[in-house]
Amino acid sequence: MKQIVIFASGSGSNAENIIRYFSQRNNAKVVRVFTNNSRATVLERCERHRIDTHLFNREALLQTNEVRNALININPDLIVLAGFLLKIPSAIISSFPNKIINIHPALLPKYGGKGMYGMHVHKAVVSNKEIETGITIHYVNKNYDEGAMIFQVKCKISSLDTPESVAAKIHTLEMQHFPVIINSLLND
Ligand code: GAR
Repeated sequence: MKQIVIFASGSGSNAENIIRYFSQRNNAKVVRVFTNNSRATVLERCERHRIDTHLFNREALLQTNEVRNALININPDLIVLAGFLLKIPSAIISSFPNKIINIHPALLPKYGGKGMYGMHVHKAVVSNKEIETGITIHYVNKNYDEGAMIFQVKCKISSLDTPESVAAKIHTLEMQHFPVIINSLLND
């Protein structure tokens, strides 16, 4: 059984979708969800699914080995960033080469980088009158949103779209594709 670890900072709809997907399969499972946010809804979702969680603060991630050591103990096959808003330190990246992936709610390299997350991305996409957007799943390296691309899928935007309606389209794409891509990486 392959082991998946998820990092999430907020709602955790992707985390829950991945938990559900793999709870119905026997090749892999989500073994722990890491979060830096004690008020994150992802914690309630994990409780409902009886998934272990690890709450840490920014300093523990950036200035100590707490998180890295916890990951080394688990020895996961894949570390999935699903709405995780802090930068992963290089010590963790080098301990898990090609094992950390992220989902971004836009067509990278557009609309990536520091501060570009969640609704900030969709607002920028709409105010620039883009005619399409999408999701990008990519490996994580030491720069925000710059690791090698694994998968992209697009959706159209019309002049009637709002940041909220774009967010809904992106959510649908994420729910549909993210677990499937994770599964294919684990089976490679
Ligand atoms: C997702 O749309 C994800 O792509 C985005 O945050 C949302 C998290 O939602 N990630 C980023 O913007 C990273 N730069 P969730 O907590 O409901 O899964």
